[in-house]
Amino acid sequence: MNKSTRKAIIAGNWKMNNTRPEAKALLEAIKPLVANAEGNVEVIACVPFTNLETAMNVTAGSNVKIGAENVHFKSSGAYTGEISAPMLVELGVEYVVIGHSERRQYFGETDETVNKRTLAALEAGLKPIVCVGELEWERDCNITEEVIARQIKLDLWSVTAEQVKNVVIAYEPVWAIGTGKVATPEQAEEVCALIRSQLAKLYDEATAEAVTIQYGGSMNAKNCAELLAKPNIDGGLIGGASLKADDFNTIVQAAVNG
Ligand code: 13P
Repeated sequence: MNKSTRKAIIAGNWKMNNTRPEAKALLEAIKPLVANAEGNVEVIACVPFTNLETAMNVTAGSNVKIGAENVHFKSSGAYTGEISAPMLVELGVEYVVIGHSERRQYFGETDETVNKRTLAALEAGLKPIVCVGELEWERDCNITEEVIARQIKLDLWSVTAEQVKNVVIAYEPVWAIGTGKVATPEQAEEVCALIRSQLAKLYDEATAEAVTIQYGGSMNAKNCAELLAKPNIDGGLIGGASLKADDFNTIVQAAVNG
């Protein structure tokens, strides 16, 4: 199996941006631009919880899929401020970002909670986009490989080979997020290949070959084509550039043509 047989996925991660009218306007602008990607590249917008219902309504009948930006591991209970997987499923949401470095950095999420959230999402029928990535000083200390291998092992702990087919891995070097400091295509490819070899160790070669691995971190309209041309980079998780319809579309088109 090779890249052409894996699902290419371009996902926007809107983070804490856009009110409902803004979400509606952005998705209305994106929809016609990316319509040609249908059947070739999966296009997703991961939006704040408050925008999910609006986003589902605006994108109904189009090829734009909707994701949430996090999910709790319990299905209900006394967890003030959290949202459960059944709540997302009931809205028709298909994807969910889990373990984003901003959640790990600012909200105390650990590989253990990332793993629990991933399992809960899968059990409810959601497709998790599990984020991994090293800090700048970890790269400087030359332990990127260990950090990534550990995250993959812990985050996917007890996820079965059958389930991992519904998992997307996003490699997001923390030093490249929102900094404009993009990883070189070679650096990004090296780690994405490493992730695939770690998946092969945990599962098997065929399973590893089938998993979509995205790059994220200052991917934009200018640098996307080079990154997406790499053999182990099957897509992108886009922050800032996903908030502009034209830029986001340029990235989608690079994936369509790549
Ligand atoms: P930027 O594209 O803004 O660097 O953000 C990347 C990211 O964190 C996507 O999840």
